[in-house]
Amino acid sequence: MDYVSTEKLKWRSRRSMLELDLYFERFINTGEFAKLNEAELLAYQHLLTLEDSDLLVLFQWKQELADPKLQAVVNKIAQINFYKEYFMTEQANLSSEAVKSVKVDFGNGKVVEYPIYKATIGQDVVDFRTFGKSGMWSYDPAFLATASCESKITYIDGDKGQLFYRGYPIEQLAEHSTHLEGAYLLLRGELPTQAQKDEYEHAILRHNMVHDQFHSFFKGFRRDSHPMAMLGGAVSAMAAFYPEDFDSTNADHRRIAIRRLIAKMPTIVAMCYRYNQGLPFMYPHNDLDYASNFLHMMFATPCETYKPNPIVAKAFDRILLLHADHEQNASTSTVRLAGSSGTHPFAAVAAGVACLWGPSHGGANEAVLKMLNEIGDESKVEEFMQGVKDKKYRLMGFGHRVYKNMDPRASIMRQTCNDVLDALGKREDPLFKLAMKLEKIALEDSYFIDHKLYPNVDFYSGIILQAIGIPTNMFTAIFALARTVGWLAQWQEMIEDADFKIGRPRQLYTGYTSRDYVAVADRK
Ligand code: CMC
Repeated sequence: MDYVSTEKLKWRSRRSMLELDLYFERFINTGEFAKLNEAELLAYQHLLTLEDSDLLVLFQWKQELADPKLQAVVNKIAQINFYKEYFMTEQANLSSEAVKSVKVDFGNGKVVEYPIYKATIGQDVVDFRTFGKSGMWSYDPAFLATASCESKITYIDGDKGQLFYRGYPIEQLAEHSTHLEGAYLLLRGELPTQAQKDEYEHAILRHNMVHDQFHSFFKGFRRDSHPMAMLGGAVSAMAAFYPEDFDSTNADHRRIAIRRLIAKMPTIVAMCYRYNQGLPFMYPHNDLDYASNFLHMMFATPCETYKPNPIVAKAFDRILLLHADHEQNASTSTVRLAGSSGTHPFAAVAAGVACLWGPSHGGANEAVLKMLNEIGDESKVEEFMQGVKDKKYRLMGFGHRVYKNMDPRASIMRQTCNDVLDALGKREDPLFKLAMKLEKIALEDSYFIDHKLYPNVDFYSGIILQAIGIPTNMFTAIFALARTVGWLAQWQEMIEDADFKIGRPRQLYTGYTSRDYVAVADRK
């Protein structure tokens, strides 16, 4: 076979299915492809005419083929163990040693000793896993004092206003890193080498298309559906597009699923917007980085060239990075709990999407813009703030369950917000002037200082997203796009934890004791 034909074969080896791409890429890059003789090249050529799903069966389940020449080439490709090379296995056992113990006196002559485990940083924990044997449950609704897992991923010091991803301060990552590098770090525990970074970005940026049938799936929604309603449904439905059995105990299955979702999430989120607008879905563009590609899928049209503004793209990437993980928040805990049943990770992430939607969590940046629009004018800010102090309503985008100091992400976002407003010439926009006035009053007013109510990340991210033309009802979907990384990293850590069990809280029951059924005619 001549040079051009073999080059064409290499080019045609590109597949939309991530596993297959890795098989073929490895086969070509290790020089194995170059060793094929003429007959084997023809067999290889024939293999490329097969559907992805049929090929995967041949490679992974070793289905026997009638043609021995074809089988020989399949065997050569299938023996490539790309998993070992591309994915690091990280075990997250309870690694802390019990250092002390605490004795609990139950007041009935029973005293039980519980071990204390030391955290590398932050509060230690008392191990109450055997507490139930005392005849009582520990009671902690809303997890105000309960560590629900051991984790090595993210650490927040709420009093100092610090956030670390795998030990790296968020400020350093925001300055030097990108969302995809942050994703690698959160998922794999270390920053990538150049080769790992290239491979990772290549894998994510090349698998961003969704099954074409997915376009029809969207048509079942009303045009005016809330993007979060569509997103939850679409993420869950993605599992239906990979009909092969998913086994959450299989590390290879887990890692492929993680890469798939991180790659396709921007496409799905952009589809929610395009569907709302009645605009055609834009295919992703592989020359663009993760953030620019998302902006392209949001704002490009098939009729003209779209060039994302680099300052806007950088700001958007930063929004993604800053929202990527935030330890055991409500939606992450939801993903962990849903995933603890062994469900498909796309379904677990869909549960996270549902939780994030609420205004006390990911819905806050949308609520900030609604609030600013309701205030309407700078002259009404003082009156509005009095209403907050009178507890008539809350100041959205302020306060946090964990940060009782400035949210470090908010400080970074504040600067980014200024950069974006300058780049887009929107500093004099009345809505943004109103937001700045509100921020100034809140930072100086004793009520907010005494209550430790500082602006959180969503106050500024909402303003940036509005400035770059993203409608408010899309804000939470963008938060979900970013947080998908953290959800998946935490889900992976949970499944790989040696102490992993299905989550099952207890309750303090205060309802009726046993009573007899009353026939409908006898009810009052
Ligand atoms: N505006 C006015 N007062 C507030 C606010 C606020 N945004 N947040 C808390 N307070 C007051 C509250 O009234 C209470 O006052 P008092 O002690 O006098 O009764 C005190 O602060 C403590 O409130 P809390 O509800 O016990 O605090 P929490 O830790 O449960 O609430 C929160 C955290 C984020 C739900 C809350 O601050 C809030 O509703 N903020 C607005 C919504 C928002 O911006 N959420 C985004 C959070 S950041 C994104 C994320 O990580 O998900």
